[in-house]
Amino acid sequence: MSTSEEYIQWFRGAAPYIKAHRKKTFVILISDEFIQSDHFIGLIHDIALLNHLGIKLIILHGSRDRINLSLSQNGITSKFNQNIRISDTESLPYIIQAINEVKTKIESHLSMGLPNTPMSGSEISLVSGNFVTGMPLGVIDGIDMQHSGKVREVKHEVIEALLGQNHVILMSNIGFSRTGEVFNLPAEELASEVAKSIKADKLIFIHHHQWQETLPDTLSSSDCETLIHTKHTPDDLKHLLSHAVKAVKSTVKRVHIIDQLVDGGLLLELFTRNGCGTLITNLFYEGIRVANIKDIGGILGLIGPLESSGILVERSREQLELEIGSFNVIEKDGMIIACIACIPNSEYRVAEIACLAVHEDYQRVGFGEQLLKVAELRAHEHGIVQIYTLTTQTSHWFIEHGYAETTSFELPPHKLTQFNQKRRSKVLLKKIN
Ligand code: ARG
Repeated sequence: MSTSEEYIQWFRGAAPYIKAHRKKTFVILISDEFIQSDHFIGLIHDIALLNHLGIKLIILHGSRDRINLSLSQNGITSKFNQNIRISDTESLPYIIQAINEVKTKIESHLSMGLPNTPMSGSEISLVSGNFVTGMPLGVIDGIDMQHSGKVREVKHEVIEALLGQNHVILMSNIGFSRTGEVFNLPAEELASEVAKSIKADKLIFIHHHQWQETLPDTLSSSDCETLIHTKHTPDDLKHLLSHAVKAVKSTVKRVHIIDQLVDGGLLLELFTRNGCGTLITNLFYEGIRVANIKDIGGILGLIGPLESSGILVERSREQLELEIGSFNVIEKDGMIIACIACIPNSEYRVAEIACLAVHEDYQRVGFGEQLLKVAELRAHEHGIVQIYTLTTQTSHWFIEHGYAETTSFELPPHKLTQFNQKRRSKVLLKKIN
């Protein structure tokens, strides 16, 4: 493919996301270590681009490395309890100073007006303020955590009003109590709490660790919990995942983890179908629905290659039109990526499962299983007591899902007369009630 063809294909692929992300709210956490990196300026431009595409943005930053540096420069050794820094009275002034330095650096870059850049001439209106009330962590294992705090309340109405006026919000990992005390807050917790309280569409962690090699492309919250309980998972990844889980179990639809070492990683993750990072979501059922006549083109595109290779029996467009109401599909970002048909016969109270297909990019993430469950549920609702399917290649998969192999003589009469002996399909049955 030539460069221009690739470019056109990329742009067409990005178009549904440009549309989908408009007016959505994204919370983005960047680590302070990243600010030193060569890719940081690139990220600033990308943030400006997102703002101009109509995405509402809250940028948060952590300050862990800067605080470490500032404390060690001043001869203070931090004490930790359960991996959390004890922000004592002696270190507090240095902690505040470090947080402010990081914040100012980000502020200055986002205020530059972006001359000589892809976003030249565009200006971002940046706002920060006391959007978070903090409270002390208190005493843990008999140790007073002093100025190490947690989030008590997020002033979400104020944040939402500012986002509505097209301001980009910048927040530091700091919170103040009602009595004026200052708390050092864990950035991941803050990001997750902010995302939850404003019901953000996405929470994005741009992280410096190269976890991407160990993290899969997609995770559910229970996959994350397994990783959290795995001994070899690094502590800081466990910490991040625990806050990601809280967000997806609440109202946040998608959490993304992106490796900051990938230049343009944020754009790749947001504007391509497969992204470049890790997507954490529980909404795997999100796109499952009953098919309608508009899906015929998408279904034909999906099953066509499987029909040509003989895995599925060929279906004409006319037949598909007649049966369309018996299909369930999974639609992802405007594309049909999986389908199943459950064709009931009320006379014999049986249903046939047919035409199960999952796009090759989405294999092995459980879509087939979810569709089968949905189809069986539909059959059950129709008073069906027995389900059968004919398959040449996937009998094991059906057996794993409770089907038993039988002979064609078990098929209902209307199917038996059509049964094509030459195909040598296996007949599988499952009783449901
Ligand atoms: N671009 C899409 C989004 O913004 C999909 C990203 C998929 N990413 C992944 N790591 N699987 O939601």
